Amino acid sequence: MDKVRVGLIGAGLMGVRHMKAMEEVPEIALVAIADPSPIAVKVGAPQNIPIYPDAGAMLARCVLDAVIIATPTERHHQDIMMALEARQTVLVEKPITATLAEADEVNGFAEQKGCHVLVGHQRRYYPCAAEAREIIAQGRIGKLMGVTGQWTTRKDEDYYSAAWRRDVKAGPILTNLIHEIDLIRFICGDIATVSAEVTHHDQEFDKEDAVAISMKFVNSAVGTFLLSDRTPTPWTWEMALGESVRFPKTGQNAIRFLGTKGALDFPNLTLWSHANNDGDWHDEITAERIKTPFVDAYIAQCRHLCAIVRGTETPIIDARNGSKSLAATLAVASSAASGRRVILEL
Ligand SMILES: NC(=O)c1ccc[n+]([C@@H]2O[C@H](COP(=O)([O-])OP(=O)(O)OC[C@H]3O[C@@H](n4cnc5c(N)ncnc54)[C@H](O)[C@@H]3O)[C@@H](O)[C@H]2O)c1
Repeated sequence: MDKVRVGLIGAGLMGVRHMKAMEEVPEIALVAIADPSPIAVKVGAPQNIPIYPDAGAMLARCVLDAVIIATPTERHHQDIMMALEARQTVLVEKPITATLAEADEVNGFAEQKGCHVLVGHQRRYYPCAAEAREIIAQGRIGKLMGVTGQWTTRKDEDYYSAAWRRDVKAGPILTNLIHEIDLIRFICGDIATVSAEVTHHDQEFDKEDAVAISMKFVNSAVGTFLLSDRTPTPWTWEMALGESVRFPKTGQNAIRFLGTKGALDFPNLTLWSHANNDGDWHDEITAERIKTPFVDAYIAQCRHLCAIVRGTETPIIDARNGSKSLAATLAVASSAASGRRVILEL
């Protein structure tokens, strides 16, 4: 079978991460890179990959089956629209676009062109996420009543040396929260309303130091989430799972799903329940550890992209679904700014 020919737009940190993943997927061939930076020439050199100064030139000259977009978020809309105009299957890094208006345009244009857009929310590929979703869908913790989670860590001081990193656009809500929101939506379903409180009383920059979020899901479950980039704790998804060598593994779970018959500690799955799912606070509650394999999510995502091009799978998270994760994240920022609860359009 012919290889799936991919063009990469943006060969920075995430572009290189996708390149590494593609090396492990025999059915995919990276055939071109578009990036104006001189660093891209260095990145492409070991594999003799032709470099184009921009996406337009690459799309005009190369025969491609798909593009991976890993440019700065502000460019996503323009790069996706160009790729769709050229009738490509698109994998775009998260968030789908910078604004909801842009995401709407992408949705409409993808449908008009009959092309798939896959949004790069890589956490959906971990078997523990799929297993948690399945456990809840099967009613193994009963009726879902709530979820509570944390992403609390302390970023290094150098992180804030660039002025733009102190701006609200680079704060934990707009940079980090979308991963948590997308994962929780994947497992619990759509979010109907959110409200948020922020504090700035440590660094006193425009970006928030901590945010507390409360939400209600369409299925009537409720949720809370606490996010901070100023608090050294062992409780983040990355540290719980050992997702990346950049963050030490703690194995400490960061999210809990609570139902009428039990609870699920996540992402290192532990199912808590009474014997026969039929006890109350007087009865012993026991833990069942559920093991799932650890995978490289970017390799899984590349394989999924190939299957989409070949027509054997449809996106695990398409443009419309990716827009909902963006909308819920922006709603948190908006609620934090206005002090009002935000009702999400579904
Ligand atoms: N999935 C994740 O966990 C994750 C993590 C970090 C970043 N991201 C997302 O990935 C995207 C890229 O982030 P990054 O950290 O790799 O940024 P980066 O700055 O390291 O890389 C961006 C690259 O895009 C190139 N570029 C800029 N303008 C271009 C243009 N007109 N045409 C082609 N290339 C152009 C730059 O030269 C650079 O090489 C962002 O949208 C970000 O939100 C996702």
